[in-house]
Amino acid sequence: MAKVAILGYGTVGSGVADVLDINAAEVKDSAGEAIELKYILDIREFPGDKHEKQIVHDINIILDDPEIDVICETMGGIEPAFSFAKSALEKGKNVCTSNKELVAAHGPELVELAAKNGKSYLFEASVGGGIPLLRTLNDSMRHEKIDSVTGILNGTTNYILTKMDREGVGFATVLKAAQDKGYAEKNPEADVEGYDACRKIAILCSILSGKHADYEEIYTEGISRISIEDFDYAKSLGMAIKLLAMFRKNESGVVSMVAPFLIPYENPLANVNGVFNAINVHGNMLGDVMFYGKGAGKNATASAVVADVIEIVKHGDGHINVNMKAEKAHLAPKDNVVRQFFVRVPENDKNQALEIFGHTVEEIKGTNVHGEFAFLTSDISEKDFEEKLWKLDSVKGYLRLF
Ligand code: HSE
Repeated sequence: MAKVAILGYGTVGSGVADVLDINAAEVKDSAGEAIELKYILDIREFPGDKHEKQIVHDINIILDDPEIDVICETMGGIEPAFSFAKSALEKGKNVCTSNKELVAAHGPELVELAAKNGKSYLFEASVGGGIPLLRTLNDSMRHEKIDSVTGILNGTTNYILTKMDREGVGFATVLKAAQDKGYAEKNPEADVEGYDACRKIAILCSILSGKHADYEEIYTEGISRISIEDFDYAKSLGMAIKLLAMFRKNESGVVSMVAPFLIPYENPLANVNGVFNAINVHGNMLGDVMFYGKGAGKNATASAVVADVIEIVKHGDGHINVNMKAEKAHLAPKDNVVRQFFVRVPENDKNQALEIFGHTVEEIKGTNVHGEFAFLTSDISEKDFEEKLWKLDSVKGYLRLF
């Protein structure tokens, strides 16, 4: 029997306990032996909880117990999770986690530390919640030359954009309703400004490059400036608006970015709605593969953590290779990426916009928007676009076309 500990009895941690309880037979069948939850570390007490007796407040009880094989770190944040993960690996424990902040910031060095100690550091739940993405990339698709990944990696923003699109309600109102229902955090910045999606695509960039992609080098725009007028135009264009996180690899290197995009309805990503996540991966031999599922939520995320526990138990002694090294990955700036852009300016600035972007732009009419000039540029580089955008006296909005 394998024995595990959970660090942090919050949403994901209690979900891990539930998966181990409710699916005990399936977990045993998959792992080849039963998996017992021995400890739960938390600063709080949980009187009356079914796992009340397993609650401990001192990490050393877990680290010093030779029976513990696997530690599930579901605390979130950098500290003390980072120190606990390091100590656990140094003490010969395997660690699996849902902690995207920690994996984005220190995942590669923790993988190296795990390798050095002949143990494993796995983090399936850190990207795409319950979607079995990382192991598939690291394992079944490892032999592919992957040149592109495009993902909807944040459920909160996808929920907000879906509501704005379907109900014609503005960003602030939808965000407030989402917060009231507990779908969005009280401090929504990490989600709505794209930082969460940025960390997740950085983790994917690290796995795909085999190095450490620094999330601070990934250009990131969120959705807080998207308005219902943008959706009006999007409908005229036959497109949805989605916050996309991207990885592109070509002869000049790797480019990654996060931004809201207009995406044609024919593209399956345009039809991913509500809190769902989806990731399209393109491999040179395999072609396109699409992953779709719950990118957040207690049970889905916990299921992915337990999948890591099972992988470790099945593997037995020794390190499970994860394609990540602490060496820094080189990410190219997005400057040379060429695409079309959608721009809105006040009607009075139409002539200025035509002078700057050229008379070949295609005017777009909204159904209910007046007093504006909206247009699609021809193909133009990110750098050129930025320079032209700065020359405009006033910009009411802009979006990239996928
Ligand atoms: N805040 C995240 C989201 C939770 O909305 O997708 C899952 O990482």
